[in-house]
Amino acid sequence: MSILDNRETLAKQIWQVAEVAGYLWQKGWAERNGGNITVNITEYVDDGMRKMEAISEARPIGTVLPHLKGCWFYCKGTQRRMRDLARAPMDNGSIIRITDDCAHYEIVADNPIAPTSELPSHLAVHDYLLGKGSPYRASLHTHPIELVAMSHNPKYLEKDVLTKLLWSMIPETKAFAPRGLGIVPYMMPSSKELADATIKAINEDYDVVMWEKHGVFAVDTDIMAAFDQVDVLNKSANIYMCARSMGFEPDGMTDAAMQELTDVFKLPK
Ligand code: 13P
Ligand code: ZN
Repeated sequence: MSILDNRETLAKQIWQVAEVAGYLWQKGWAERNGGNITVNITEYVDDGMRKMEAISEARPIGTVLPHLKGCWFYCKGTQRRMRDLARAPMDNGSIIRITDDCAHYEIVADNPIAPTSELPSHLAVHDYLLGKGSPYRASLHTHPIELVAMSHNPKYLEKDVLTKLLWSMIPETKAFAPRGLGIVPYMMPSSKELADATIKAINEDYDVVMWEKHGVFAVDTDIMAAFDQVDVLNKSANIYMCARSMGFEPDGMTDAAMQELTDVFKLPK
């Protein structure tokens, strides 16, 4: 028995997470247990689910997140592999709900699999998004090779240097990652400081944020859209590195070409 049985719309969301998990593995961005995904599934919760007993004790989130009152999430399990999640999402992740004090969560289904160690960042970001009325419901943390490599050079960590370079590699990048790439300096994985710095960067109006020498954190309406934003940015990083490995610095699109694209696609400046 699974909570997904006879819940088609909820199952569709969870299987979309599984599909993305498979892409992350195929791309080489998900070594071992690397990366994590959470999706706010509250809109798919029915009365039957609301009556279910929790299968874990209430565990502290570590902070109080008032906008998460009554919210439910699917979370990748900590130490679980994306390549396993791709085949069996409910054996490598679990469904949790936030308790009424907004300071704890409990696991509801299918198995008592502890959520990702990056839960503080994920839940704090979901709380922030709901607070500002955003339609975004999914967050993704992954380790894209080329973007992480570029984050080892301090010149790319200055505000919007990398954004501008990546946008100029191929027109689609600005069209499909129109808010660019925010930068968060290196901080301890799973820490509250990292969660706070991630929100600060998202608040500056980035959908994708680089965690220096670690990975990226992306938000969007659903998990496929969040993946797509990371994918287009990393593609540009890869094009840049291909040009460099052929022995030249790529020209990049001209400022005039970028401006035309921005006007035609009605993109943010
Ligand atoms: P989890 O296995 O706890 O999700 O951690 C993976 C990771 O990438 C931490 O940054
Ligand atoms: Zn990580």
